Amino acid sequence: MFQIFTFWILITYATSFILQPNDYKVELVQAIFRHGDRTPTIYPTYPTDPYNASFYEPYGIGQLTNKGKQRAYMIGAMLKKRYADFLGEIYKPDYVYAYSRDLDRNKMTLQLVLAGIFPPTLQLTWNEKIYWMPHPMYINPNAFDFLSVIMKCSAYGKLWHQVINSSEIQKKLKSHKDFLTYISKSSGFPTDFSTAIKLYSIIRSQMSLDLPLPDWCTNEVFEKLEELMTLQYSMLTYTNDMKKFVAGPIIKRFLNNLKSHKSKDNNKKIYLYSANDYSIAAFAQAHNFTVPIVDYGCTIIFEKLRGRDNQIYVRVRVFAY
Ligand SMILES: *[C@@H]1O[C@H](CO)[C@@H](O)[C@H](O)[C@H]1NC(C)=O
Ligand SMILES: *[C@@H]1O[C@H](CO)[C@@H](O)[C@H](O)[C@H]1NC(C)=O
Ligand SMILES: *[C@@H]1O[C@H](CO)[C@@H](O)[C@H](O)[C@H]1NC(C)=O
Repeated sequence: MFQIFTFWILITYATSFILQPNDYKVELVQAIFRHGDRTPTIYPTYPTDPYNASFYEPYGIGQLTNKGKQRAYMIGAMLKKRYADFLGEIYKPDYVYAYSRDLDRNKMTLQLVLAGIFPPTLQLTWNEKIYWMPHPMYINPNAFDFLSVIMKCSAYGKLWHQVINSSEIQKKLKSHKDFLTYISKSSGFPTDFSTAIKLYSIIRSQMSLDLPLPDWCTNEVFEKLEELMTLQYSMLTYTNDMKKFVAGPIIKRFLNNLKSHKSKDNNKKIYLYSANDYSIAAFAQAHNFTVPIVDYGCTIIFEKLRGRDNQIYVRVRVFAY
């Protein structure tokens, strides 16, 4: 089941009070989500891994699994249900803008989210046996875009290294020294923080595939890996400058969409962005939202609302499992 966290951001300086559900109308929905469950993104995974590549067939490495497809479709179904009145019965391609990071798992996730929100209406049914219709979506091949700052921006990389090297973080990492030594011995990886992050990611994907965890990875160990993953997320936006680098371009995009909405040729009802966990974590943290682990399919919805007072409000919701 989805867990929902709701946060309000007041865009206007309305003489405001807390809005009641009937006090506002949805005018635009924007959603950004992490792709669904996938196989490990690196192969070979870690030296002592009992699972080899044959366990990831027929998907391949870093690819969306069937469970991931179901989860992605559920994001779409959730959006369809939540915004049924707003999205209405009629579908037109220009109601939707869908953009994906240029990675297979993201593009596939986006297609499935679209399939969940917009199954063919009666008029648009083109094959009785297939409850699906194609949708336009945009990618920018190999782009250095607003969803890839963390991976591709060298100026941001410098800030990241400063954080890693800071005495505060070094002190934190020291307190995990025994654990890092333990997982390094167990996995055959070198002893450092990035080992823990890689292991978390690999093991989480193996869990999703229902592969039994190796003996050294007890529930307690996995929880500790999660804790370190959470630390990694928090480090992404450690300083205000880092927040600006990684969350700024996403927020700018959302606000531009909001401003251009209802202008002459803009009939958009919904914008969809298929991203990775770092983008989602950065966006949430830049707003001081506390989100637990940004797991597969974690979704942030950014709603433009019109109040009865005719002011514009933004409500942000975070969906996690
Ligand atoms: C992968 O592991 C399976 C089961 O442990 C084994 O049967 C298979 O031979 C291995 N494949 C390769 C290519 O090593
Ligand atoms: C961080 O520390 C490492 C060595 O510990 C050093 O190589 C690197 O230049 C440092 N980076 C920054 C940005 O201070
Ligand atoms: C988030 O918290 C920090 C520290 O308390 C504060 O400086 C900042 O203004 C907050 N940001 C938002 C968007 O509320």
